[in-house]
Amino acid sequence: MDCIVLSNVVKRFGNVYAINGLTFSIPCGGRYALLGPNGAGKSTTMKILAGLIKQDSGDVSIKGMKPGTKQVKKFLAYLPEDPVPYRILTARENLEYFASLRGIPDPKGRAEELLELLDLKQYEKVQAGKLSRGNQQKLSLALVLIHNPEIVLLDEPLNYLDIPTQEKVIGLLRNLNSTFLISTHIMSIASRLTDHVVMISKGRVVWTGSISDLKAMGREDEPIESVVSRMMSNDL
Ligand SMILES: Nc1ncnc2c1ncn2[C@@H]1O[C@H](COP(=O)(O)OP(=O)(O)O)[C@@H](O)[C@H]1O
Ligand SMILES: [Mg+2]
Repeated sequence: MDCIVLSNVVKRFGNVYAINGLTFSIPCGGRYALLGPNGAGKSTTMKILAGLIKQDSGDVSIKGMKPGTKQVKKFLAYLPEDPVPYRILTARENLEYFASLRGIPDPKGRAEELLELLDLKQYEKVQAGKLSRGNQQKLSLALVLIHNPEIVLLDEPLNYLDIPTQEKVIGLLRNLNSTFLISTHIMSIASRLTDHVVMISKGRVVWTGSISDLKAMGREDEPIESVVSRMMSNDL
């Protein structure tokens, strides 16, 4: 069964087509990257799936339901581009607050667990608005994943993180059993976190398939980044 389905989706801002006939689907349990250059329409796609904006035409469904419904929000996580935490609350208060909102039986325990897991313990008493953008990003991830969501949408999750923290977060995300869609413009991130890519440019799918098929399309010893840029440039 497909958990995420987009069919001929169009979204315009004024006379700019952010999404221009986008069609792809993700099977339940699939791990997919939405790969494309800046302005390709990745964040717009994520916002439509999160129910934040509505497409002008085309169909979108999540487990057969419309995005943004109460039912869908129960099992969905969405990491936006902007920081998630409530700025005046500390890191720990944010975690306990989100855990309570999500109806988690032991909010304090869950907060503790995530502080440990993401090395945020030293910042537990710091107001979120005072944290570095990288630590806000880590806290954002912890907040959106707090309820062990079944479907996870992450818009450029590794942005702002330094290399050791990226490694930590990659390890954590690889351990999730969720259906998974992350947007990125970096192929090496896609290949470490997912097994399929949906490559988009100018709001349309350029290519979709498994990362191993993508690698096989390269010339001998050709880096995967080079295969991707050739495929992207064919479209331009
Ligand atoms: N709220 C908006 N108002 C006007 N134009 C927008 C808006 N959001 C996105 N766009 C435009 O739509 C296109 C796709 O943007 P976006 O989805 O953010 O791309 P990506 O995340 O792949 O970089 C870009 O040309 C962008 O300028
Ligand atoms: Mg974006």
